[in-house]
Amino acid sequence: MKILVTGGTGNVGGAVVRELLKRGAEVRVLARKQPEAGKLPAGVEVAIGDLLDPVSVEQAMLGVDKLFLLNAVVTDELTQALIAYGIAKRVGLKHVTYLSVFKVDQFRDVPHFASKLAVESALREFGVPYTILRPGYYIQNDATLKGALTGPGVYPMPIGTAGIAAVDVRDIAEVAAISLTEDGHEGQTYDLVGPSTITGPGNAAIWSKLLGKEIKYTGHNFDQWEEQMRARAAGWTAYDLRMMFQGYFDRGFGSTETEVARITKLLGHAPRSYEDFVAETAAIWKA
Ligand SMILES: NC(=O)c1ccc[n+]([C@@H]2O[C@H](COP(=O)([O-])OP(=O)(O)OC[C@H]3O[C@@H](n4cnc5c(N)ncnc54)[C@H](OP(=O)(O)O)[C@@H]3O)[C@@H](O)[C@H]2O)c1
Repeated sequence: MKILVTGGTGNVGGAVVRELLKRGAEVRVLARKQPEAGKLPAGVEVAIGDLLDPVSVEQAMLGVDKLFLLNAVVTDELTQALIAYGIAKRVGLKHVTYLSVFKVDQFRDVPHFASKLAVESALREFGVPYTILRPGYYIQNDATLKGALTGPGVYPMPIGTAGIAAVDVRDIAEVAAISLTEDGHEGQTYDLVGPSTITGPGNAAIWSKLLGKEIKYTGHNFDQWEEQMRARAAGWTAYDLRMMFQGYFDRGFGSTETEVARITKLLGHAPRSYEDFVAETAAIWKA
């Protein structure tokens, strides 16, 4: 069985590729340019193409059985996703596993959530067997905070104090691979969460303990956060992420024990925790 993976050069897609190979699937990655040597595991095919170029997407799907569909957060995310989905339907792929986001239906004012909700609607409407994955905040996002944590000693993500759902990318990848290689996942929508929720002050305390220095949570002034983000990213990206974080704060993004029990059963083990990720990451940084 051959599976086409989009986003296979990125965080989640890369982990999905590794999990699929472990399960004996053949893997083809759709990439905009030839990945550097060693970026992808041996044996992975590469189809050069772009999700905005339907001809290249169709060529990439020739000889493929199933699709793992992940779209980057870009202004034309919805168009990219619907091109891939529509061609998967036309060429008769047997299954599409789509990477959406936790509580997608409660954040319709956040552009990248609204795109994913529209894609979910298409999946449910047009008959190709599908599985939808709805992950919470990626625990691995915080690997990008090395400068802030080890420099001024701040935890800058405005995730609030109520507790949000966060999941390890490796658990997302495992569930994706299970949905694509085992029976019984058609028409299912899986909330992907960690064993417990995370908070700004809680994460600061975990990093303090494992880095051996005081880390302060910078709080959640969303105007200020968006302004700072605009210096590092496009204005629309800063706006989109601000709306997401503000939504977490205003409406909540917490997980339930039922959701934790369901992912535990799917994985066959407990989901990985934020604390374990920090311990691994702090050890690497110290080394
Ligand atoms: N971060 C979070 O906390 C979180 C939580 C829930 C859901 N999500 C969702 O996760 C997704 C991002 O996952 P990620 O972090 O794994 O992404 P990522 O590491 O940023 O990778 C994005 C991938 O998309 C590919 N790509 C971008 N534009 C493309 C195009 N036009 N045609 C073909 N491929 C294209 C990139 O390929 P190149 O190598 O060519 O650039 C790359 O492989 C988003 O949909 C986001 O909303 C994120």
